[in-house]
Amino acid sequence: MDTVIKSTATEAAGYVANLIAEQIRQALESRPRASLVLAGGSTFKPVYRQLSEMTLPWSRLDLFFGDERNVPPDHEWSNYRMVRENWLSRYQAGEGPTVYRIAGELPAETAAKKYSEVLRNYGENKLPVYDVVLLGIGSDGHTASLFPNRLEEVIAKRVEVINVPAGQPPEVERITLTPLALSRSRLIVITATGGEKAEIVFQIQRYPEARYPINVIECSYGRKILVLDREAAGRL
Ligand code: 6PG
Repeated sequence: MDTVIKSTATEAAGYVANLIAEQIRQALESRPRASLVLAGGSTFKPVYRQLSEMTLPWSRLDLFFGDERNVPPDHEWSNYRMVRENWLSRYQAGEGPTVYRIAGELPAETAAKKYSEVLRNYGENKLPVYDVVLLGIGSDGHTASLFPNRLEEVIAKRVEVINVPAGQPPEVERITLTPLALSRSRLIVITATGGEKAEIVFQIQRYPEARYPINVIECSYGRKILVLDREAAGRL
């Protein structure tokens, strides 16, 4: 995995936004539509804000979510709400990307099943291959809603979406893409910023054989890149 270290979180966000834009532009040269899988949490907020300032043929982009909390789309814990507030709210109807959100308002099992169907339809009965997948890292080593201590049960699943019981803050069930689904990408961008991520970034880099989700998710059709700011890279 390539690692890029930027001085500040703002610079890291700018670098990531440019990477995403470039990959989307390239994809659209040879295909009618491009696809991007979004991360929740807060690290990518400045990335989404920078994307919202860029000029791209956004209406040719399909947006997916790597995970969602089991709450309605207007709830403060909703990843969809976070993305809408930081990026999508600026488009008029029909102007922006097409959004395939996870229906967090439904019972988690139902939402997972429904999202699996959405992905299957999108991939014309196969799992889709995404142009870009974005992943954050929690200080406990989770990514999307894949937690290191529950990884084995998830890897065993051949389905693409599952629901994960609560047990981590915020205390709600989560619906997540599995490593199998997330690996089907042409570019995976992992981002961590801030000193509170320094220890887990060190652990993940130092022990690539350890079963951290980030290490288990391969990039089947391209490359995986880790973008850090100086604080998150503080122990490397
Ligand atoms: C979520 C995420 C999750 C997140 C990491 C990092 O819904 O919580 O998708 O995997 O990316 O926990 O979160 P922060 O960016 O807030 O540190």
